[in-house]
Amino acid sequence: MITLGIESSCDDTSIALVENGIKVLASLVSSQIEIHKRFGGVVPEVASRKHLEAILPLLNEALAKADKKLTDIDQIAVTAGPGLLGPLLVGLTTAKALAWYLKVPLVPVNHIEAHLTAAFLTAEQLPEYPFLGLIVSGGHSNLVYATGPRDFEELAHTLDDAPGELYDKVSRHLGLGYPGGPIIQRTAEGGDCKRYKLPKPMSGKGFVFSFSGLKTAVMRIMEKEGDALNMPDLCASLQYTVAETLAEKVELALKERKPKVLAMAGGVAANKILRERMQKIADKHKIRLLLPTIHLCTDNGAMVAAHGFLTSKLAPENSIMVNASANWEMGQPYNF
Ligand code: KG4
Ligand code: ZN
Repeated sequence: MITLGIESSCDDTSIALVENGIKVLASLVSSQIEIHKRFGGVVPEVASRKHLEAILPLLNEALAKADKKLTDIDQIAVTAGPGLLGPLLVGLTTAKALAWYLKVPLVPVNHIEAHLTAAFLTAEQLPEYPFLGLIVSGGHSNLVYATGPRDFEELAHTLDDAPGELYDKVSRHLGLGYPGGPIIQRTAEGGDCKRYKLPKPMSGKGFVFSFSGLKTAVMRIMEKEGDALNMPDLCASLQYTVAETLAEKVELALKERKPKVLAMAGGVAANKILRERMQKIADKHKIRLLLPTIHLCTDNGAMVAAHGFLTSKLAPENSIMVNASANWEMGQPYNF
């Protein structure tokens, strides 16, 4: 069973072919980072146009890489939300047209759910339930207890910014560029993570995240230090604080739910310090940790194809009528 995965919810156009939900035959990404860099963030209208230009050539490239033909595709999975509406519509419309032409099922996929499936895809296995999932990306910060492919109990979400958003905003303030996460990670290399004391947001306050206060705290340090500011130390201190903040909540959930598996996913899951911190927790609690490869942390079509395979039986019969939705929450019904 070959699933075509299409992802276009933000600034990456991605096409993948995945066999039986676990084997990636091809996964290509056309990134728009260079275009949006000069604006310091994603411009939705520009992103939509770039998706439109990239999507069909990328499909041909993916088919060639996997050595497959269009007619080898058994079903089409596509991100239907959440994300930017214009970009989502480019992927969804393409998927609908292809599904209709090829007479194959269309599986609308929730982008955040797909991020979690990427952790299992890396291990070339289908998810085992229940598991504890931490999704940390540019738009999301969720701690969930997953009991089925579309069954999630939300344990925590952020009251304001997501950690990726924090990195992107701080990086812009520091004049380091976009996207912030990888740049801050690079700048932090060799830095002293204990040099600048930053507050651990919502520490001791149970299942809740908040990251916008950290941005203010970083700005205060910038003002106070002036020319004496040590950039690697500041970036290292920020990464350390974000990892410790997430670690506290994950440990709380592990103690309460006692799952055997912890999966972390989303763009920020590519962060080296955070990956090391989660590994420490997994070792301490003697549980299995699943981390996506770096390529599968950020937005990609392979996670969409894998999640489409997993949820194909849950998709509505008239899925060709499903609408894109900017705010589709995990586990919520499909939007018409
Ligand atoms: O999952 P993703 O590709 O898009 C969303 O669905 O949001 O995540 C993008 C976010 C950006 O905010 C980016 O700065 C962050 O992931 N990111 C990282 C790293 N690589 C990407 N954050 C920290 N460390 C990284 N290595
Ligand atoms: Zn994403």
